[in-house]
Amino acid sequence: MSDELMEKVNESIAAIRGKTSIKPELALVLGSGLGPLADQITEPCSIAYTEIPHFLKSTAPGHEGRLILGYFAGKPVLCMQGRFHYYEGYSQKEITYPIRVMAKLGIRTLILTNACGSLKREFCPGDIMLITDHVNFTGMNPLIGQNEDEFGPRFPDMSRIYTPELLKLCRETAEDMDMDLREGVYLGYSGPSFETPAEIRLFQNWGTSVVGMSTVAEAIVARHCGLKVLALSCITNMAAGILDQPITAEEVVEAANGAGERFRRLLAGVIKRI
Ligand code: HPA
Repeated sequence: MSDELMEKVNESIAAIRGKTSIKPELALVLGSGLGPLADQITEPCSIAYTEIPHFLKSTAPGHEGRLILGYFAGKPVLCMQGRFHYYEGYSQKEITYPIRVMAKLGIRTLILTNACGSLKREFCPGDIMLITDHVNFTGMNPLIGQNEDEFGPRFPDMSRIYTPELLKLCRETAEDMDMDLREGVYLGYSGPSFETPAEIRLFQNWGTSVVGMSTVAEAIVARHCGLKVLALSCITNMAAGILDQPITAEEVVEAANGAGERFRRLLAGVIKRI
């Protein structure tokens, strides 16, 4: 790792360790409208991103901007209540910095959540989807630039980016709970504009299932670091042009809030088994 990055990561870790002695091995990133899931964390220690050196300012709607360390389903966890996005004007290296901090803090498993629009007519707002793979259509890659050798190789394999054993565990958990779980491929789009109907038709032809403005960069960096990755989408709307109506950020947050309780149950079930 470059000395400069190492120094920054160590400063961020010192600030976190200065606030709590909890040693999480699992991290959770809460997407748009899913922030209230953090209320389930017991013995919480909440740290605003502004209190952690080198963390960015969170500007997206529905993203609180704090780390919460505590216990979720009895397991020590680190939770990002709000993430950073490429469309906020940060580089993909910058938005994935917390993933590097997690890796050096001893996190082994990362669960990413997000809100997304559905490309498939058979999926509905409120559905939860297991991400089995992704297409990075952001036009950027967070690993561009000098390789951070201490984290991982120059050309990391992405053929099993979403960890097969976690996919299996999540499917089994949903089945045991009698909960419907969709599956599909997530297309990462830069935003902040929503897509055009022509883009959505293109993405449908590519065999992707949902579209969103996060997740892909974090998953790439997490795999580079050797973390196990599970990602779950909350479908909040039908993608542009599928229905004859515009998409709003408000409906996204509202639909994600509506799915919050099912999301919480599924996550608790999964985390218990990890
Ligand atoms: N497009 C992109 N990102 C999204 C959407 C969408 O339709 N819904 C929620 N996040």
